Amino acid sequence: MAAINCHQCIYVFVTTFFVAAAIVLVPTTCTAQLTSDFYKQSCPQALQIIRSVVKRAINREARMGASLLRLHFHDCFVNGCDGSILLDDADSFTGEKTAGPNLNSVRGFDVVDDIKAALNRDCHGNVVSCADILAVAARDSVEILGGPSYSYEVLLGRRDATTAVLNDANRNLPAPFFAFSQLLSSFQSHGLDLQDLILLSGGHTIGLARCTTFRARIYNDTNIDPEFAASLQKGCPANGGDNNTAPIDSTTTHFDTVYFKSLLQKKGLFHSDQELFKSDGSDSDNLVQHYANSPQDFKVDFGASMVKMGNIKPLTGSDGEIRLNCRKIN
Ligand code: HEM
Ligand SMILES: *[C@@H]1O[C@H](CO)[C@@H](O)[C@H](O)[C@H]1NC(C)=O
Ligand SMILES: *[C@@H]1O[C@H](CO)[C@@H](O)[C@H](O)[C@H]1NC(C)=O
Repeated sequence: MAAINCHQCIYVFVTTFFVAAAIVLVPTTCTAQLTSDFYKQSCPQALQIIRSVVKRAINREARMGASLLRLHFHDCFVNGCDGSILLDDADSFTGEKTAGPNLNSVRGFDVVDDIKAALNRDCHGNVVSCADILAVAARDSVEILGGPSYSYEVLLGRRDATTAVLNDANRNLPAPFFAFSQLLSSFQSHGLDLQDLILLSGGHTIGLARCTTFRARIYNDTNIDPEFAASLQKGCPANGGDNNTAPIDSTTTHFDTVYFKSLLQKKGLFHSDQELFKSDGSDSDNLVQHYANSPQDFKVDFGASMVKMGNIKPLTGSDGEIRLNCRKIN
């Protein structure tokens, strides 16, 4: 029953009912599923177009790959992968961009605008959703910074939200000061498990973070390499310099397993990163250890967790809309 829409689903249900009384195998709830070939008819070149704009943006500034990956995460964790993070403030709502976890840190909106403009032009109309753009741009970024073996197939067919709620972004995104149990419940509340938490946190193998997000850790945490803390303190004073950035791992433009290796050495940048490895023999410790030493498994499993995250509450069928401009509703 892969990839059928709700009409087909009801049809199959009814037909099966009259053909055979054995009905138990037919699902009674119809949720349209995402599919990898969603734009095959409507815009066969969509994925290539997105990829070429992402590639250009990363060539201009390698960090952009990290920023695009994070945008998809921050989209999916707030009422599902519905492009809501892209909405500017409007008369009828205040968007998510100024919520605590996003303010002064989410970036990449101009690149999304470029992608959307290229798609609207080359697909001869408004066909590809902003939510799908984020999912594809995240995958392309990972692949461009990690190489072809970090690739995975993205599922498509999401539609775009027609509203955004600032406080939902405050409530639903995990914070860098979270303890392990808070991180796990945050992920579980989105249908993700411990393994997804470890793998997706591996997204921190690329990108930068502002001093304000790790200051408490480098001055007050005990589960941190002292030399690592001291070197970060130089760029992140106890007072001021909130916007100064530091690399999240030591190879910020390479999608690799250095992030996990750093955790083994107590060199996680965020308190939340180091919570995943505390040398206490926990399942979490074992997973970090495993991925630090198994780049091959990380490559494959990261993609699977990204697909899972990309499946969080998508709008499908006739729900939502395809936004003409990712920053505002039609
Ligand atoms: C597990 C809970 C997570 C927490 C607490 C967290 C927290 C943060 C924080 C505080 C920053 C820096 C923001 C700033 O400078 O203000 C950051 C950056 C980043 N995060 Fe996370 N994050 C988490 C999970 C994830 C996930 C699941 C992904 C993607 C799969 C991700 C990808 C990124 C990337 C790529 C950056 C760097 C962005 C850039 O350089 O523009 N994070 N994260
Ligand atoms: C940090 O940067 C933002 C713009 O990204 C600016 O509005 C804010 O005032 C800056 N904060 C400090 C403490 O410099
Ligand atoms: C470190 O902890 C002390 C005592 O709890 C607190 O007063 C101080 O503000 C903390 N420093 C940072 C940078 O968080």
